Amino acid sequence: MVELLRALEKTADLVGRELDRLLVAAEGPRGRVVEAMRAGSLNGGKRLRPFLLLETASLFDVPPHRALNAAVALEMVHCYSLVHDDLPAMDDSDLRRGKPTVHKLFDDATAILAGDGLLTGAFAVLAEEATHPDPAVRCALVASLAQAAGAAGMVGGQMIDLSPQRGQLDLEGITELQNLKTGRLIRHACEAGAILGGAGPAERQALVDYAGALGLAFQIADDLLDVEGTTAGLGKPAQADAALGKATFVGQLGIEGARQRARALVAEAQRSLRQLPGDTRTLCDTATFVVERQV
Ligand code: IPE
Ligand code: IPE
Ligand code: MG
Ligand code: MG
Ligand code: MG
Repeated sequence: MVELLRALEKTADLVGRELDRLLVAAEGPRGRVVEAMRAGSLNGGKRLRPFLLLETASLFDVPPHRALNAAVALEMVHCYSLVHDDLPAMDDSDLRRGKPTVHKLFDDATAILAGDGLLTGAFAVLAEEATHPDPAVRCALVASLAQAAGAAGMVGGQMIDLSPQRGQLDLEGITELQNLKTGRLIRHACEAGAILGGAGPAERQALVDYAGALGLAFQIADDLLDVEGTTAGLGKPAQADAALGKATFVGQLGIEGARQRARALVAEAQRSLRQLPGDTRTLCDTATFVVERQV
């Protein structure tokens, strides 16, 4: 696990440096939105999604520097989703990654635009030749990220999360919500690695299975941390879900039930790895990390 934490740190450093290079400060009034985009993306974070992308790509012998654009684009979409998630019209949160949220540092309109800039900027990064020499591969990455982030993916999940009916969701409904809201970007992380590496259908399916179980386990851990963690420890407000009337796995299964379900999902994710080539130990440890993490 120490090794995994070190590897995560290395990826965080790599992704942070690349984002810093990409988000170039601008003169005049336009500079404000770039500053807000930097505040929403250079503020820490585990960088788990880029890590998964780089790791899955490496299974197919794609070195990290060749997968970096795709990893950074995914993190830009994730950061945009957090900037918007924290807005007063959504979760109304003042704290993210231990720092004031973008709309607190700037204002709501600037935070909306910063999110828009990160989202659209991600696709500009994917379209660069440096992402992959083959335009068909770049196109496949664009399509996969767009599907994962859009109304049939993360945005759709966020809509369910805010809907008046969220309180009436049963376990199946909550699972669908979490699969969309959190699972789809995590699945894209793993599928993008497979796309870059030219993986076959069986390998790709194994990664989709891994990511599906991992994504759910990840969101259950997020729900558990919301109940059991502290604001200082998490770097975002604790005990926020109940206050906002969110539909969570903890609400449905209780703390122990949610923990058991998360552990079962980790085992399921790890079983899927058996269908894959190469050294999958890091991905195996990542599944354990996802539920044991304290942040
Ligand atoms: C938080 O994601 C939002 C969820 C989908 C639960 P992370 O826990 O990956 O947040 P960062 O990127 O590390 O801050
Ligand atoms: C947000 O889920 C998932 C996104 C798509 C941004 P949460 O609202 O539970 O994430 P946190 O707890 O604020 O990080
Ligand atoms: Mg939310
Ligand atoms: Mg939130
Ligand atoms: Mg949460």
